[in-house]
Amino acid sequence: MNFHFCCYRIILLSFFVLSEGGVSARHGRVSTDPCDLYVRHKGHYVSSDQITVLMNGFSEYRIPLLLSLASSYTFSPLVSSMIVLWDNPLTPSPLLSQLSHNLSLISGSIHLIQQPSGSLNARFSSRPDLIKTRAVLVSDDDVEVDNKSLEFAFRIWASNQDSLVGFFARSHDLDLSTKEWIYTVHPDRYSIVLTKIMILKTEYLFKYSCGGPALMEMRRVVDEMQNCEDILMNFVVADDANVGPILVGSEKLRDYGDARNEEKNDSFREVGLSSRKGDHRKMRGFCIREFHRILKRMPLRYSHGKVIDSVGEQGLCKKGGQLVRCDDFSLG
Ligand SMILES: *[C@@H]1O[C@H](CO)[C@@H](O)[C@H](O)[C@H]1NC(C)=O
Ligand SMILES: *[C@@H]1O[C@H](CO)[C@@H](O)[C@H](O)[C@H]1NC(C)=O
Ligand SMILES: *[C@@H]1O[C@H](CO)[C@@H](O)[C@H](O)[C@H]1NC(C)=O
Repeated sequence: MNFHFCCYRIILLSFFVLSEGGVSARHGRVSTDPCDLYVRHKGHYVSSDQITVLMNGFSEYRIPLLLSLASSYTFSPLVSSMIVLWDNPLTPSPLLSQLSHNLSLISGSIHLIQQPSGSLNARFSSRPDLIKTRAVLVSDDDVEVDNKSLEFAFRIWASNQDSLVGFFARSHDLDLSTKEWIYTVHPDRYSIVLTKIMILKTEYLFKYSCGGPALMEMRRVVDEMQNCEDILMNFVVADDANVGPILVGSEKLRDYGDARNEEKNDSFREVGLSSRKGDHRKMRGFCIREFHRILKRMPLRYSHGKVIDSVGEQGLCKKGGQLVRCDDFSLG
C-alpha cells in the first residue's frame, strides 16, 4: 500500500514537472497560490466515501474538548483526515506546539495550522495540499455530533452533493415595513445553515476563496464585519447550485458554546445566547444586504423541513417547486 502510494506520488510529480515546464519557463517559478494549486490538483479530489474535517479552534480553555473531538472524529471510519485551523493569534507558541504534539499522539492524520491572518475567510481556504476528499466537514471546536448522525448527514450529502448539509438553520427574509433583507429564524423554512457544523463539497472552498471580483468584495465585507463567513458560503453555494441547504436532525448534538445545550429547541437556545443577540442579528442582516447589493441578486433559496434518520417525523424538501419527502430528494 505504502509502496503504491509512494509511486503514485512520484508519477504525479513528474507529470507536473512535464506539464508545467512551459509555465515555469515563462514565469520563472510555479505558483504556490492555493487557488492555482487547486486548479492543478482538481482531478485528485477523488475520495468520495470519506470526508476531511476542518475544525476551527480558538479558545485555549476549550483545548481538552478539542482533543476529545479530534479523537472521536479520527476514529470514525468516515473521516480521512482532520485539519485544525487555529484562529487565535494571541495563543503562545509553546502552547500550540504542545497542542500539535498532543494531536499527533491521537493520530498522524491531524494537521494543526495556525491561521496567519486572523481573517475568517481563511477558514474556507481550499488547501489542495491537504484536502483529498470530495467533501469536507466544517465544524467549530465546541460542537459535538454523534457518529450515527454524522454518517446520516454524510449519506444525505452524498445524494445531494451540490447542497450544504447542516445541523443548525437560519433564514433570510424581506422585512416588509422597511423593504430590507434581514437575518432571522423561521419555524417552517430556512435558507442558511451555520458553519458550526456542516458538510459541503470541497470545490465550494475553492469557489469561496478564489472567486472574483464580486466575491473579492464580498470577502472584504466578511473581513470588515469579522462575521458572516458562513452566510457568504451559503450565498456562494446557492448562487452556484440554485438550491437551498438541507437541515438534518441529529440524535445527540451538543453545543458546548451554551450551557443549555441539552435543550432541543433551537430557538429557545438562541434566546439565551447573548445579551447582544439583537446586535448580532442586525450585523448579520447588514451582511445579507451587502452581499445582495454586491451580487445584484438574492441567490438564497428556502428549504423546508428537517431530514431525520428515523420513522415518525418526516421532513419536506422543495424539489421543482413542490414539497416532497426529503428521502426522495436528490438532485441526481
Ligand atoms: C497535552 O497533553 C498533556 C498530557 O495529557 C496535558 O497535560 C497538556 O495540558 C496538553 N496540552 C495541550 C495544549 O493540549
Ligand atoms: C464515534 O466512534 C468512535 C470510534 O468508534 C468513538 O471513539 C467515538 O467516541 C464516537 N464518538 C461519538 C461522539 O459517539
Ligand atoms: C421553542 O421555544 C420557544 C420559547 O419557549 C417557543 O415559543 C417555541 O414555540 C418553541 N419552538 C418549538 C419548535 O418547540
